[in-house]
Amino acid sequence: MESVVETLHMNKGAGETSYAMNSSLQRKLISLTKQAVEKAIKEILCSQRGPTMKMGIADLGCSTGPNALMVISEIVQTIYETSNTLNRLAPKELMLYLNDLFTNDFNNIFVSLPSFYKKIGQEKEHNQSKNNNIGDFGPTCFVSAVPGTFYGRLFPTKSINFFHSSSSLHWLSRVPIGLKDESARRLNTGKLYISKSTPNSVIEAYSQQFQNDFSCFLESRSLEMVDEGRMVLSFLGRESTDPAAIYGCYHWELLAQALMAMVSEGLVEEEKVDSFNLPYYACCYEELKMVIEKEGSFMVDSLETNEIDWDEGIESERGEGVARAVRAILESILEYHFGSHIMDDLFGRYAQILDHHFSRTKAKCFTFNISLVKRRE
Ligand SMILES: C[S@@+](CC[C@H](N)C(=O)[O-])C[C@H]1O[C@@H](n2cnc3c(N)ncnc32)[C@H](O)[C@@H]1O
Repeated sequence: MESVVETLHMNKGAGETSYAMNSSLQRKLISLTKQAVEKAIKEILCSQRGPTMKMGIADLGCSTGPNALMVISEIVQTIYETSNTLNRLAPKELMLYLNDLFTNDFNNIFVSLPSFYKKIGQEKEHNQSKNNNIGDFGPTCFVSAVPGTFYGRLFPTKSINFFHSSSSLHWLSRVPIGLKDESARRLNTGKLYISKSTPNSVIEAYSQQFQNDFSCFLESRSLEMVDEGRMVLSFLGRESTDPAAIYGCYHWELLAQALMAMVSEGLVEEEKVDSFNLPYYACCYEELKMVIEKEGSFMVDSLETNEIDWDEGIESERGEGVARAVRAILESILEYHFGSHIMDDLFGRYAQILDHHFSRTKAKCFTFNISLVKRRE
C-alpha cells in the first residue's frame, strides 16, 4: 500500500465500530478551534468592502458522521453572529463544501442534510425576527461534497474564502519512499511508524514526505483562495523535535506490540508487519514553521498547541473505547494489508495493552491549532 487515495477511509455507517460512533476525540479537537474560527470569520467579513453576497467555505477531510455537519453548522452560526455583532448583513449565499477522499462515506452525511437545512432555516427565521430592522437576515446555504485528495487542487481559482480542516493533516499522501536499504531490506522492522529503534534514514524519509505534502497543500489552497482568504487547521503533532518522542508515536507503538504478539503466536507473518508502515506523520513546530515560510503563500496569524487525553469523551472501559476509536480510523488500511480476519483479535489485544498502559500513565496527545492568512499577491 503506497497511496492513501484508494485505501484510507474511516469506518462507514453508524454501527459499533463506525467512525460516526467513535469520534469524540476529534470532536474535542474541533471545539478547540472555535476561537480561531471566530476570529478568522470576523477578519474576513471586516475585510470586505460593501455587503458580502457570497462566501465559499470548505472543510477538508470532513469524514463521516456527526462531526462533518457540526463543523459547517458552527461556521454558519459564527457567520450569523459575527455579522450581527458587526451590525451588517450576513452574506446572502454560502457555498459549503465537504471534502474527503473518494472512498469516504458521504452518504452518511447526506442523510442528515435535511435536518441540517431545517436547523439553518430556523436560525435564519430567528435572526430575522430579532433583526427586522435590517431586512432579510441570514444566508442560503448550498452544501456539496468534493471528493478528492487535498494534496492537490480541489476547487477553482480564487473561489474559497475560508478553509477549515481538523484531525486530517497528520495523514500523508502516501507511505514515504526510502523505507528500504540498497539491498531492498526493510528498515523499520516490527514497527508501524517511527519508534526508538527506527533508523535515521526512515525518519528523514517521513519528514521529507511531510514537507512535500504540506507544501503542496499550502500551494493548492493559496491558488483556490480569494485575496484576504483565511484558514484554520488543527491536527496531531509532537512537542519534541525528536520524532520518536512519546506523544508523537506511542499509540502506534502499542498497536505494533499487539501485532508482534500475533506474530509470535504464528497468527500473522512477520514479513507482513515488517512491510507495513503508516502514511502518518506527527510534525513538530520547527518543521511546520519551516514549510510555511519556505512555501511562502501564507502568514501565521496564530498558532496554539494543546494536549488532550487519548480517551477524551470515553466514559468507561478506556482501553476498549480507545481501541474502537483507533479501529474506526485505521481498519481500512490494516484490512487492505493484513486481511479482515485478524481485526477482532488484533483490536481485542490492543484494548488490553491500552488498559495496561492507562493503568500506569496518563495518555496524552499533542495537537497544533494554526490560523493562516493568505499573503497579498
Ligand atoms: C480522523 S478523520 C477527521 C474527520 C473530521 N474532520 C473530524 O474532525 O471528525 C481524518 C479524515 O481525513 C481524511 N483524509 C486523509 N487524507 C486525506 C486527503 N489527502 N485528502 C482528503 N481527505 C483526507 C480521511 O479520509 C478522514 O476522513
